[in-house]
Amino acid sequence: MAEHSVNQGRRRFLTATTTVVGGVGAAFLAAPFLKSWQPSARAQAAGAPVQIDISKLEQGQLIIMSWRGLPVWVFRRSPEMLQALPTLDGNLRDPQSRNTDQQPVYAANPHRAIRPEIAVYVGICTHLGCSPTFVPELTPQPFDADWKGGFFCPCHKSRFDLAGRVYSGVPAPTNLPVPPHRFISDTLIEVGVDPEGAA
Ligand code: FES
Repeated sequence: MAEHSVNQGRRRFLTATTTVVGGVGAAFLAAPFLKSWQPSARAQAAGAPVQIDISKLEQGQLIIMSWRGLPVWVFRRSPEMLQALPTLDGNLRDPQSRNTDQQPVYAANPHRAIRPEIAVYVGICTHLGCSPTFVPELTPQPFDADWKGGFFCPCHKSRFDLAGRVYSGVPAPTNLPVPPHRFISDTLIEVGVDPEGAA
């Protein structure tokens, strides 16, 4: 994973919190239902894995968690979002995930995920390290008349689709990184550990 490409100063902005961002038009929501297990700050700094319960994660919702001081996005894509992904391939810099630094081999697929509906990405722009805004709507936006959902980095206008794939012609050079992760069960993800036999 291209951890080295992440702006170091930016890493310090996020504390070890878990936040849910709702889908269309929703604001930040408290997430009392999340039963994420978080190791101590010291253990996290050392790279301890973190677990997150996605049983209550609804389509279009995004959870922000912290792993190794990095914001990690976990979100659930709807069938419509998945259908939109291949239609964007011609607008993207690396639609086939050929840059092997940006994801483990088990996420080098059209949805850049182990399970198509569940996305797990490091939420830091690969340009200068800002955290892009989640814009899940599959409808035109002021910054893109052909918008079909994704992430927008307002500072220098980089765009990523809902598979974390970077658009062509924007400052960000690469797709968002996919951190090592595995499913412990249908509803529990562990970030920081590869699936058995996949490392
Ligand atoms: S940091 Fe994202 S576009 Fe510059």
